[in-house]
Amino acid sequence: MIKLAKTADSGYPVYIADTALNQHIFLEGPSGSGKTTVLRQIAENICRTGNRVLVLNVNGSFGEISDENGYFAVIRAKRDGIPLSFLECLDMSDGTREDPDDVAEAVVEVFSQAERMGYVQKYLLSQAAKEAVMLRENCSDDMCCLKKALSDMEDDEGKVLLAKFASFLGRVCFKKEAGLWAKGRAVVLDLSGYQQRVQIVIAQLIMSILWRQSRADGQRGSNATWLVVDEFQNFSLRQDSVLEQILREGRKFKLSLILATQSLAVFETKKRAILQQPATKLYFKPVESDMRRIANGFPDMNPADARTILQGLHVGECLASGEFAIGSESRFRTLKIRFRN
Ligand SMILES: Nc1ncnc2c1ncn2[C@@H]1O[C@H](COP(=O)(O)OP(=O)(O)OP(=O)(O)O)[C@@H](O)[C@H]1O
Ligand SMILES: [Mg+2]
Repeated sequence: MIKLAKTADSGYPVYIADTALNQHIFLEGPSGSGKTTVLRQIAENICRTGNRVLVLNVNGSFGEISDENGYFAVIRAKRDGIPLSFLECLDMSDGTREDPDDVAEAVVEVFSQAERMGYVQKYLLSQAAKEAVMLRENCSDDMCCLKKALSDMEDDEGKVLLAKFASFLGRVCFKKEAGLWAKGRAVVLDLSGYQQRVQIVIAQLIMSILWRQSRADGQRGSNATWLVVDEFQNFSLRQDSVLEQILREGRKFKLSLILATQSLAVFETKKRAILQQPATKLYFKPVESDMRRIANGFPDMNPADARTILQGLHVGECLASGEFAIGSESRFRTLKIRFRN
């Protein structure tokens, strides 16, 4: 079980029940309410259980972490490269191998978040990705390999794609040499040094790789994995985007998300609905314009009581709803919890 925090009134440790609908966690709170600090604590708590945590530090949202920092191991993407392959056909749990078409489809899905592409361009990118799957053994890294496959295309649209994705191709190195995971520590993948929109696309590509890996492992994978994304509001949540897929189906493959944002008000209604998926939700002291929506959202607490508690929250405290285990009792509830600093 993942330890969350302590109850604010009596200080009992609060765990997320293993029987919760899923192990995703959603955090909402304005700037300075303590979200990032809480994310770090939860990441530490998950490490202590021996499970895997990957923090995608996009646009510096997770703050500065030194290279040797207790529960965190830092990979600096720009300096070290990203120790993953997005062109490898994975071994599936049923003994088969992943189809290159599926690999290509995942690449096109992520790249189409970055730049609008028509059908023809999507088709050509998918052809290039399939070609790159074949070439990858002879390339220095997967991104270079995709660049080469696009350069080799006869069609002029290949050149257009090269120009469109110039900020990724050949600049972001995906090379599966060392492993990604560090035993007993959360891995922070720091994407600083790239343009902001490039960081978001790389982060989505990494999520897409881990999602494919989790599905390939099926139920046999022994490690549960959590992906932490602070300030995730710029990520795609459209249907079949990687985030939406993991939110919907991650539980089956032991891949969970921890997502934090300042306010759901910036999301379209449809996307807000998707963000109801996480079984555990943490609300920090909201700004007045968010108060009504949040106070009305607790199934087991009346809005007036919720509002009183929300208004009285201090930094590092939140109103949490989910299936929590306290002592030997495990059930759905809404309660005020406190994280240490
Ligand atoms: N549990 C806590 N107890 C006391 N102080 C805390 C606690 N959590 C965070 N703080 C302090 O509050 C400040 C803001 O915290 P943090 O950066 O985690 O907020 P945030 O919600 O992530 O803000 P932003 O949305 O701007 O990133 C920090 O200076 C931090 O040290
Ligand atoms: Mg923060």
